[in-house]
Amino acid sequence: REAPLVLGIETSCDETGIGIVRGRKLLANVISSSMDEHARYGGVVPEVAARAHVEAITPAIRQAVAEAGIRLSDLDAVAVTCGPGLAGALMVGVAAAKALAISLDKPLFAVNHLVGHVGADVLGEEGPLEYPTIALLVSGGHTSLLLVRDLVSDVELLGETIDDAAGEAFDKVARVLGMPYPGGPHIDRLAATGSPTAIRFPRGLSQPKDMAAHRYDFSFSGLKTSVARWVEIRRDAGEEIPLGDVAASFREAVADVLLTKAIAACSDFNVPRLLLGGGVVANARIRELAGQKCADAGVTLRVPPLALCTDNGAMIAALAAELIMAGAQPSGMDFGADSTLP
Ligand code: KG4
Ligand code: ZN
Repeated sequence: REAPLVLGIETSCDETGIGIVRGRKLLANVISSSMDEHARYGGVVPEVAARAHVEAITPAIRQAVAEAGIRLSDLDAVAVTCGPGLAGALMVGVAAAKALAISLDKPLFAVNHLVGHVGADVLGEEGPLEYPTIALLVSGGHTSLLLVRDLVSDVELLGETIDDAAGEAFDKVARVLGMPYPGGPHIDRLAATGSPTAIRFPRGLSQPKDMAAHRYDFSFSGLKTSVARWVEIRRDAGEEIPLGDVAASFREAVADVLLTKAIAACSDFNVPRLLLGGGVVANARIRELAGQKCADAGVTLRVPPLALCTDNGAMIAALAAELIMAGAQPSGMDFGADSTLP
């Protein structure tokens, strides 16, 4: 039997993503982002994101179908992110997916956005996922550590950020340093010009007492505040800010805490595999440190192509295809968008 042909819809944040896969083969991955519309607010505005999805979704579906060279009637199933994410944004995708599934009379799969990020990896060149694996998902909306024993049936949340997501911290620090949103890529470039050891910024939830209660949780709001204060004090004193050093030292603190905790999870659960996902994985130092720490710990590192790391519809389609191949039942039509889905 041929692998299932699935169209996936992702609208949990500011990307309208439509992807089409046949099993583990990527056929189309169309992304329309409303990032530019949020830039002047310094962060994603939910209402603006939802409206942008309404405008973008039908053209994106048309484009994906054309790129994949299929007809909608060829589809075996439709899949959609039902949460977590921005409620209004999610609702646009869920409504579109239901409309499509009903009109085509195809089964509909509602999937979890975070598990979708892990699912993206089956579309990479390294073949099927091996189990168990630890997954570290880092974006503007989430910072989570997962223990994946089986993509379709056994994904455990080990920990997540208790305040800001790592990408959010990058964006806020960038703002403090006077750079535009989204600031992550700017900080990353600036960091290349400075020293990562120039300033010792705090590593959230990494002290022994924190590690006892929050071993796999993250906190970046203290780090962000610490950077802001460091800069403010020197600005008030009329000193010149060593931008490169601030960026490099901040980036080092984030990379350090992310990878230290991810490797701790690998070691605690005796899991020799680490998977990275989310837009922040574009970060040069995070990639480098992941490579080093994994090599030292004897852990195999997998990083999907960047276009599959950031929010996209292909990962949602890929996860649903895995569910179908594993014999899972479709979701029916009764589900709604669940912005706080665990
Ligand atoms: O996954 P993503 O595209 O969207 C969601 O947030 O869901 O991630 C976007 C986030 C933004 O916060 C952006 O600043 C950050 O990823 N980012 C980076 C880099 N490229 C993007 N952060 C650090 N270094 C980068 N090179
Ligand atoms: Zn995401």
